[in-house]
Amino acid sequence: MDKKVTRIGVLTSGGDAPGMNAAIRAVVRTGIYNGLEVFGIMRGYQGLLENDIVKMESRSVANIIQRGGTILKTARCKIFHTAEGRQQAYDVLKGQGINGLVVIGGDGSFRGAVEFSREHDIPVIGIAGTIDKDIHGTDFTIGFDTAVNTAVEAIDKIRDTADAHDRLFIVEVMGRDAGYIALHSGIGTGAENILIPEHKTDIDNLISSLQEKERRKKLVNIIVVAEGEKYGGANEVARAVKERMPHIETRVCILGHIQRGGAPTSMDRLIASRMGYHAVECLLEGRHNVFVGILNNKMNYVPLDKVHKKKGIINDEWMKIVKILAS
Ligand code: F6P
Repeated sequence: MDKKVTRIGVLTSGGDAPGMNAAIRAVVRTGIYNGLEVFGIMRGYQGLLENDIVKMESRSVANIIQRGGTILKTARCKIFHTAEGRQQAYDVLKGQGINGLVVIGGDGSFRGAVEFSREHDIPVIGIAGTIDKDIHGTDFTIGFDTAVNTAVEAIDKIRDTADAHDRLFIVEVMGRDAGYIALHSGIGTGAENILIPEHKTDIDNLISSLQEKERRKKLVNIIVVAEGEKYGGANEVARAVKERMPHIETRVCILGHIQRGGAPTSMDRLIASRMGYHAVECLLEGRHNVFVGILNNKMNYVPLDKVHKKKGIINDEWMKIVKILAS
């Protein structure tokens, strides 16, 4: 492995997340502060394979901390998941003299990075940039807080119209196969029910709770459903409710990609700045092939090959809280 890191590359990969720009800014400026040359790799691993690489200066990242999306653009790249693709990426990096890489992305992006770091001698540091918050080893992922706040704002608005019409709204939020956005936005908006993939949806139970609320003349209800929920998502849940309670007015709203855009919250800007700074520090200190997370407000460094998807671990107490508070 090259001993001293002198020229580093940074890329964003997978679904974009608000706060990625703040992380890029932190990597670029921390690198330059420490005398490194920093290169922005466009469109994730795809741009890397195509040698689409630009030199970054301190000014290149001016005025971006508040912007959603990613100035480096992003992509999901299948070829990087093959050994040939990774060899090609290595050759490009070697050709550019880049001897350290920072990857900002989700678990799919890290899987490629793990293979790359096993096969090649360029150190890689991972930073979790995903709205889904589905990665072990960190309490936060960049973009989650913004996505939750966007969902909260939207659901608050939906509640106004639900209240005006005495309707049931079933709102679907993102999260791939994790329920964190649903859980946090649902609790934050006082949703009457939250359906997530980590807990089996019991339709009979849901219908009984709606019937019980109806008996109490509580006609306005919001059910927040995670897109990965196993019964089939918002439309399927709505179909089941309509079948059993045809007299209640039900509407479905799928929030979709609105949750991925917009200015990052101060929380996302802060964690992105900390993670970006520490990613470069890792490269400088020779702490190679790690993922930079934040656990209990302390930096947490996990070997890249130990980073995995956080699945199925939302404990029952959360659901108890939902039930008690939404009664
Ligand atoms: O991983 C982020 C995410 O927004 C998920 O919540 C969602 O399932 C997925 O990406 C959507 O991906 P795409 O933008 O490729 O449709």
